[in-house]
Amino acid sequence: MKCIDAFPPAELKGKRVLVRSDFNVPMNANGEVGDIFRLKRGWETIKYLSQKGAKVIVISHIGRDPEESLEPVARALKKFGPVVYISDIVGSAAKSAVSAMRDGEILLLENLRRDPREKKNDVSFARELASLAEIFVSDAFAVSHRADASLVGIPKFLPSYAGLLLRDEVVQLTAALHPPRPSLAIVGGAKFETKDPVIRSFLSAYDHVCVVGAIANDCLKGKGFPVGRSRISEHAPAREVCENPHLIVPTDVTAERLDKQAFVKKPQDVLPEDKIVDIGPDTVATLAPYISEAKFITWNGPTGIFEEGYTSYTHAIAELIANRVSRGSMHSVIGGGDTIAALKNSGIPEEKLGFFSTGGGAMLEFLLKGTLPGIEALG
Ligand code: 3PG
Repeated sequence: MKCIDAFPPAELKGKRVLVRSDFNVPMNANGEVGDIFRLKRGWETIKYLSQKGAKVIVISHIGRDPEESLEPVARALKKFGPVVYISDIVGSAAKSAVSAMRDGEILLLENLRRDPREKKNDVSFARELASLAEIFVSDAFAVSHRADASLVGIPKFLPSYAGLLLRDEVVQLTAALHPPRPSLAIVGGAKFETKDPVIRSFLSAYDHVCVVGAIANDCLKGKGFPVGRSRISEHAPAREVCENPHLIVPTDVTAERLDKQAFVKKPQDVLPEDKIVDIGPDTVATLAPYISEAKFITWNGPTGIFEEGYTSYTHAIAELIANRVSRGSMHSVIGGGDTIAALKNSGIPEEKLGFFSTGGGAMLEFLLKGTLPGIEALG
């Protein structure tokens, strides 16, 4: 995989460069972009190319409903620099807008998933997209686990490079595959079956693995603790995972009663009407020595149901991590849209938390396989 900064900068002037970004961002109730994290990170490559005089044609998907539009994203991107939005992908409007581009100009085309050929990895769609440009840059790390036309099809037709964001993700996550010791992985989220392979892989690569979020309920249940009305996965974790001596499970939980009142309690005290919504302070205290010894931490998934306001223990763990990272005594890689969203109001500056991955599923898949289809396609 070659990075676009290895391409002779002077030769970028006047070239049409197709950039596949992942601007699949959450929207707020007003239909505007609710979080600019991916835009800010993705802008670096776009800015680099534009400053070198390239004609930058940006493509992305948004959401899973093909009706969704990138128009609000174009509005949000204007805060970073001038962007022209075209409500078309490979039709005549897009083609004429591309042919009228001036050096350094930036176009954003419409949601790739409006064309059903994108998800089908249709070769004709990839060819039509490729025909818009002379060079392809993939910067869409967060969707690189999907073998979609814009990710794996376009590189068959154009000289292809990784963008700056994609390059950084690969460097950082490659380091997370073989962390220096002692190391700690913190994994949250729901659906244990989807996290099981990566937890097993972490259990061999990391000194300790702590489960939080809904998957911790599965491990508590597997260890014989009551979990009341808590969210449980379809597939229970295997005994050898639950009993692994390197697995850390919450030593206390925050449990919500039917009347929504929440109490911190020991796992054995969870009642049938309780719903576990977060870890508790004792779990943070249990983790503290592991965090203060670790040279490397990988973290994906908040500790609790952050969208219902249970963020204080996620923030407490982030404080402990930031304390070490800002002293230069540890490196951390943190990812997953929910984790980033839960940390948003923590008041901790991003740079104190190590590297923030833009990937959720892509981050976990990369940590499992060491590569992704969208990366392989770049050669
Ligand atoms: C993401 O947000 O995880 C990526 O953009 C992938 O989106 P998808 O799960 O809809 O393919």
